[in-house]
Amino acid sequence: MYIEDAIVSENKAIAEGIYRLDLSAPRIAATAQPGQFVNILVHDDLIPLLRRPMSVAGVNGDNLALIYKIFGAGTTIMESWASGQRVNLLGPLGHGWEYDSERLPILVGGGVGLAPINFLHEYLLGISKEHWLVIGARSKKEHFLAHDPANGILLTTDDGSAGFHGTALDGLQSVLRENKNAPHQIFACGPPAMLEAIGTYTVKAALPCQLAVEEMMGCGFGICQGCSIEAKVDADNDQPSYGKRFKLVCMDGPVFHADQLVLNHD
Ligand SMILES: Cc1cc2nc3c(=O)[nH]c(=O)nc-3n(C[C@H](O)[C@H](O)[C@H](O)COP(=O)(O)OP(=O)(O)OC[C@H]3O[C@@H](n4cnc5c(N)ncnc54)[C@H](O)[C@@H]3O)c2cc1C
Ligand code: FES
Repeated sequence: MYIEDAIVSENKAIAEGIYRLDLSAPRIAATAQPGQFVNILVHDDLIPLLRRPMSVAGVNGDNLALIYKIFGAGTTIMESWASGQRVNLLGPLGHGWEYDSERLPILVGGGVGLAPINFLHEYLLGISKEHWLVIGARSKKEHFLAHDPANGILLTTDDGSAGFHGTALDGLQSVLRENKNAPHQIFACGPPAMLEAIGTYTVKAALPCQLAVEEMMGCGFGICQGCSIEAKVDADNDQPSYGKRFKLVCMDGPVFHADQLVLNHD
C-alpha cells in the first residue's frame, strides 16, 4: 500500500453522469490487481473529511484509470479536475478477483460496477483468454461500450433501448445457456439489487461466483471497522465472534465468494 500524489492526465464524461479519470500514479499502477481499489483524498480542506474509495478500472504503464459516477460532494469535486491536477491516493487496497485459468470467465457489470470488471476484462484480453462480458443498464444512454455478442460483449437494457432486453441477470442466464458445457466462473460488480439477484441465483444453482461489494468506508485498510458486512457463519459455530460473523470490505474484500455473504436481509 502506498500514499502517492497522482497527476490527472484526463477526466472526461463517457456516459450520462459517468466519468473516466486517468491519472499517472507509477507506484500504485505497478502493483494494482483487478478488483483492488484506491482511496482518494478529494480535497485538501477538512470537508469532505473521508477519502472516497474507487475501484481501479485499468492500468496502462504508469497510469491508472478510474470510472466514477457523480453522487455527492466528493464526486462533484472530482468532476472539476483538469489535467495536471495533483490528487492524493492511497492504494492499492483490498484483495481482488481470484481467477481460475481452467474456467470460462463470465464477467457481469452494472452501472459503475463496470470499473473492477473492466480491469479484469483488460487483463483477460492481455493474456488472450476467451471470456464473456455482460453489462447491464437501465437504458441505452448509460452504456458506453458497443453490443457485440459475436465477440463476447452482451449489453442489456431494462427498457430494451439497446442490446438484450432484460436485466444483467437475464443476460448472464442467456450466456450460461449458450455455454452450458464449459466449466465457468462468474465475476460480478454493480448496484446492491443486482448483486443480490446474481448472488442468490448463483448460490442456489451452485455456480462459482465472486461479487465485488461496496460499503461506506473510513480508512480503507482495517482500522476504523466502518465497512463491516454480514458474512455466513459455520452451522456448528453457535457463538460466533464478531470476526466470524462479519467481514471488512476493505481488507477481506471488496471481492467475496457469493456463498460467503448474507445476501438477502428481508
Ligand atoms: C471498494 C469500493 C469501490 C468503489 N468503486 C467505485 C467506482 O469504481 N466508481 C464509483 O463511482 N463509485 C465507486 N464506489 C462508491 C464511491 O466510493 C461513492 O460513490 C463515493 O464515495 C460517493 O462520494 P460522494 O462524496 O460523491 O457522495 P456522498 O454525498 O458522500 O454520498 C453519496 C452516496 O455514496 C456512498 N458513499 C459515500 N461515501 C462513501 C464511502 N466513503 N464509501 C463508500 N460509499 C460511499 C453512499 O452510499 C452515499 O449515500 C466504490 C465504493 C467502494 C467501497
Ligand atoms: S474502511 Fe476502515 S476498516 Fe474498512
